Amino acid sequence: MAKRFGILTAGGDCPGLNAVIRGAVLKGETVYGQEFVGFRDGWYGLVYGDIIDLDRSVVRGLSNQGGTILGTSRFGPYSEPDGGPENIKKVLKNLGIDGVIAIGGEGTAAASKRLLEDGIPIVGVPKTIDNDINATDYTFGFNTAVEIATEAIDRLRTTGNSHKRCMVLEVMGRHAGWIALHSGIAGGAHAILIPEQPESINQICAWVTSVKNRGRAPMVVVAEGFKLPEMAEAHSTKGLDGFNRPRLGGIAEVLAPMIEERTGIEARATVLGHIQRGGVPTAFDRVLATRLGMATADLVADKKWGHMVALRGTDIVRTTFDEALADPKQVPLDQYQEIRVIFG
Ligand code: F6P
Repeated sequence: MAKRFGILTAGGDCPGLNAVIRGAVLKGETVYGQEFVGFRDGWYGLVYGDIIDLDRSVVRGLSNQGGTILGTSRFGPYSEPDGGPENIKKVLKNLGIDGVIAIGGEGTAAASKRLLEDGIPIVGVPKTIDNDINATDYTFGFNTAVEIATEAIDRLRTTGNSHKRCMVLEVMGRHAGWIALHSGIAGGAHAILIPEQPESINQICAWVTSVKNRGRAPMVVVAEGFKLPEMAEAHSTKGLDGFNRPRLGGIAEVLAPMIEERTGIEARATVLGHIQRGGVPTAFDRVLATRLGMATADLVADKKWGHMVALRGTDIVRTTFDEALADPKQVPLDQYQEIRVIFG
């Protein structure tokens, strides 16, 4: 029976990673007598055999801690000169590790799938604040990001009201508008702009003006991946990330002066940035992450290599890397239309 497993966290961090680690270790030790180690800094630790022991004493009290105790990086498992399946197999054999648990987003799932095909026993746990993975109803970290963004909207509204300004808040999410949609609804935004639905500057200004005409301070929430109809790509001026994808961000700073110029209403932009990924996870995310971690101990006990755990309704289920890698989950237009009718 496979007994000793290595856990890694790869890609961008996300509130709830530590709760997953704790859930897996506690259930694995208690129910199956499994042992765990953690690979440091994502795939780097796997490629170079850089590990820490993970037992009950190490994961104690971890579920409320943000970040990841293992560290993370954008290093890939096939990175030259030492990456690739043959070296990784040797590392696993030398360390007596029977399987790998990779907690990560789309890039991690893609790398895990390739490793699986190259003979590495591996399972996955989906994570991202963006909530854009199809295989799961919600990813842990998303709820925390929405709470943080909602608090930011609440705060911006009080200062916006004092100065009678239009406040434009930019939130993360890459090419999915989930964080913008949920925080925008929760914070009562007057317009929510998402990547899935271009809106013209005339339309945005019409919403802003109608709010102003009612004597209110307009609040606009924009997702970093939002595009005006004339934009071919989402706004990006910061080069590429570790996966060669354009780093997004800054669209609020483009929109605010456009709104001010066209409406005559003073406008201010706030880019919320990595605040959305830091700090303690919400209770919802702690519960979800703990349950996913515990279900991962079951997965490796059953040697379900190539599988991932996911949330469907209120159930934790098993899915595959292929399913997780299917088209990203974007906001359906009918869900956007549902709230759009009350903008302005
Ligand atoms: O995927 C999570 C995310 O926070 C996105 O919302 C954002 O575009 C990106 O990562 C930022 O990445 P980095 O931490 O590399 O700047």
